[in-house]
Amino acid sequence: MRGVIERYAAYLPVDASTPRVTLGEGSTPLVRSSRIGPSLGLTNLYFKYEGLNPTGSFKDRGMAVAVAKAIESGAPTLLCASTGNTSASAAAYAAHYGLRALVVMPAGGVAAGKVAQALAYGATIVPVRASFDQALRLVRQLGELPGTALVNSINPYRLEGQKTAAFEIVEELGKSPQRVFIPVGNAGNITAYWRGFGEFQGRTGGRCPRMHGAQAEGAAPLVRGKPVARPRTAASAIRIGNPASWASAIAARDESGGSIEAVSDGQILAAHRRLSAEEGLLVEPASAAGVALLIAKVARREVQADETIVCILTGQGLKDPKAMTRGLSVPPAVEPTLEAVRRAIRSGIL
Ligand code: F0G
Repeated sequence: MRGVIERYAAYLPVDASTPRVTLGEGSTPLVRSSRIGPSLGLTNLYFKYEGLNPTGSFKDRGMAVAVAKAIESGAPTLLCASTGNTSASAAAYAAHYGLRALVVMPAGGVAAGKVAQALAYGATIVPVRASFDQALRLVRQLGELPGTALVNSINPYRLEGQKTAAFEIVEELGKSPQRVFIPVGNAGNITAYWRGFGEFQGRTGGRCPRMHGAQAEGAAPLVRGKPVARPRTAASAIRIGNPASWASAIAARDESGGSIEAVSDGQILAAHRRLSAEEGLLVEPASAAGVALLIAKVARREVQADETIVCILTGQGLKDPKAMTRGLSVPPAVEPTLEAVRRAIRSGIL
């Protein structure tokens, strides 16, 4: 399968000499809901499963383009602040292309799988006793060093790559959905999708979807209208109090006739569990925020039954094993006899 640069070169700021950087990102499945949709009375609900990108999150789409441009400009070092996924993605592309990755992350604020990825791909990790927002401020300053390419979503090439997910959705459905639900942290992705839908529809005609961004209640600066000094949520990927793409996220909301709303950690974790147990889609908690918002809006009767709706599942559940098994455990081992196994099955079912 072609990567996003190869597949969408005509829509990206690349030319024939730009390296076709890829780890096989993009072309992720659009899965039709089997159980959550019907249980909500929705007939056309889909999930864009971005967890199937090479490092397990949507970041890879934008990273491919950002890294291509970094190589083009001769920068040997990729630099980012991260709640985890950006660092995993930057580290993997750096490894593949012989670059160095330097990642600054909030100490204790990143899910175990993402730290493990950055380590395994060989990144230099600097944990700081600070929030993501402070870490981003630091790397903005470090980015002024020669030879570094800052690959956070404030890098315009990141958003260019990420908009390709909107192209794929329109191509697959044959039209734009009516609503898109998407988690919002630093607000790059909602910006990128809105741009992607706009560009594609601009060429093919037709309308764009309403964009519904979901923030966690304890980390909802865009909903409150002001930065949050100490953002709190179990969804660590979107534990962000002062999004870099603030204005463009608000523009996406307003121009699309959508909304940016808060959901509680309880709602996020309930949606997270439903996605794995009712759809077979393992995601990390942040990725369930959009689904949690959809569920809340259906309960408030703000969504019509036959609307075509896409929820963006931004990251893979294996990255956060603690969240994945919350409240679950493997039963005690039994003796290897038919009787013991039968007894265990009966007690498991009853
Ligand atoms: N979902 C996941 C799984 C994420 O990792 C992120 C952001 C988002 C949603 C929000 O996207 O920031 O574009 O609004 N993660 C960044 C990181 C901040 O460092 O990995 P956004």
